[in-house]
Amino acid sequence: METLVYAAGALGAAALLPRLLRRLELSRAKHPSLAGHSRLAKRIAKWLPYYEYAEDRIYATDGAPAAVAARRRAGFERLAALYRQRYAQTVDLTARVEPLISDLQFTGAYRVPFQYSAHVRRHLRSGSFVAAAEGVTLVDLDGNRHYDLTGAYGVNVMGYDFYKTCIAEGARRAEVLGPVLGLYHPAVAYNVERLRAISGLDEVSFHMSGTEAVMQAVRLARYHTGRTHLVRFCGAYHGWWEDVQPGVGNPLPPHETYTLRDLDARSLRVLERRRDIACVLVNPLQALHPNANAPGDSSLVDSARRAGYDRAAYTAWLKQLREVCSRRGIVLIFDEVFVGFRLAPGGAQDYFGVRADMVTYGKTLGGGLPVGVVCGRRDLMRRYRADRPADVCFARGTFNSHPYVMTAMQVFLEKLAEPAMLARYAGLDELWNARAARLNARLADAALPVRVANLGTIWTVTYTQPSRYNWMLQFYLRAEGLALSWVGTGRLVFSLNYSNTDFDAVANRFVAAARRMQADGWWWQAPGLTDRAIRRRILRESLRRLLG
Ligand SMILES: Cc1ncc(COP(=O)(O)O)c(C=O)c1O
Repeated sequence: METLVYAAGALGAAALLPRLLRRLELSRAKHPSLAGHSRLAKRIAKWLPYYEYAEDRIYATDGAPAAVAARRRAGFERLAALYRQRYAQTVDLTARVEPLISDLQFTGAYRVPFQYSAHVRRHLRSGSFVAAAEGVTLVDLDGNRHYDLTGAYGVNVMGYDFYKTCIAEGARRAEVLGPVLGLYHPAVAYNVERLRAISGLDEVSFHMSGTEAVMQAVRLARYHTGRTHLVRFCGAYHGWWEDVQPGVGNPLPPHETYTLRDLDARSLRVLERRRDIACVLVNPLQALHPNANAPGDSSLVDSARRAGYDRAAYTAWLKQLREVCSRRGIVLIFDEVFVGFRLAPGGAQDYFGVRADMVTYGKTLGGGLPVGVVCGRRDLMRRYRADRPADVCFARGTFNSHPYVMTAMQVFLEKLAEPAMLARYAGLDELWNARAARLNARLADAALPVRVANLGTIWTVTYTQPSRYNWMLQFYLRAEGLALSWVGTGRLVFSLNYSNTDFDAVANRFVAAARRMQADGWWWQAPGLTDRAIRRRILRESLRRLLG
């Protein structure tokens, strides 16, 4: 009897072993950061208490002596006075509507680390209204002209004037039809042919946003593979729909999502072994900061932000992914909503020389109007089964293929084929890498603790010495006439129509802003201060707050 029990136990253990091994492989393929551990990150987010620094401490949270704190305070007050006077009308309208617009309340609160946020909001208010866009500049309600580094969330690849033309010409072509939905404007036929040629894929579906395009691509991958899980790489943004945004920001825990390490053989092993993976989502923008979330200044509590783009390494990674996905019947989806048409006219597939099974596009493709697109292999795009009529994969959307969007897209695609437009892409990497290198050399020469890293026209700012105040740079940059999005120095997005003169003007302003910030003492360095010590201090403050 005993022998039987042991035998059964051994059999059971042997049966469990492969499962345990697979579980272990999965754990090893998770990035050690919080971005790699959605559940833990959510738990910590629930626990982290709010606190803010009092006025008398806020300029010396790194232990700076009184004289340095006084310089910082004077600099802050000078900026506050400048903002009040220069941005009066823009800020006034923003303040009036902010209590009524939840999005504005959110972005307003998360421009800088939360401990400083209330103070900054009281004194250094940034306006959210703009009156005009001209060339590479934006003009606010007070008539101030700033160089645009927001890139309109990445939509603005070619320059705002280009999109004004797409929209105006598109509207002219669509106006006889108006907003007829469910039936197609002829522009749809043109767009489909062009998108097939660009993507190298068989079929196309139109949606209203990048988020929806990704939803649809993942749903189809699940439908056709009969598998449940999607793989995304640590830190990658794919829109705000549940399954692609596990962790902080989503009230639900992750279910059918694996978040794996980017650029890591351990992830390939998981793809090789598991049988429940329907698709792998790749956002090539992550090449700039693999395994890290989109950098925003609200998380700039120290100088740990890292970025750097290695085209050869990322290309090799995509090739490895392509191979394992082909071998394992996993659908490889390139999410090109951000980078498509920015890196190359044929998108990231063209730029990296790797083909996906499905590609999502959005942002700029709408010619300035909202859109999401899925291109895919015929067998993956089919929404029903010929032999099982009730087994369908449902997708609709009232406004998909809207005539005005389709005609603006048509103009965009027509113009994209013009030699002058194609010429813009020639030597693009070299041009923007050289610009970044020039700016970095100037920053180094001026002994400023700031650098930039870039993936073409997508830039992020990094900091070379530990500091608690790097987030102040965004306010100095604005004061010098550079318009940033609400994520601040985490993401600067240039359009391709920036001339050398325009860029030099931005670089001059950038250096001037950093010089002023340095002169105001924000980068004074406490002896021996490290990023780790800063994070430990924040942990202690949080614990004290929690327990006190
Ligand atoms: C790579 C990527 N995928 C999806 C999305 C979501 O697109 P949308 O904001 O149009 O829903 C974004 C938006 O920034 C994105 O960058």
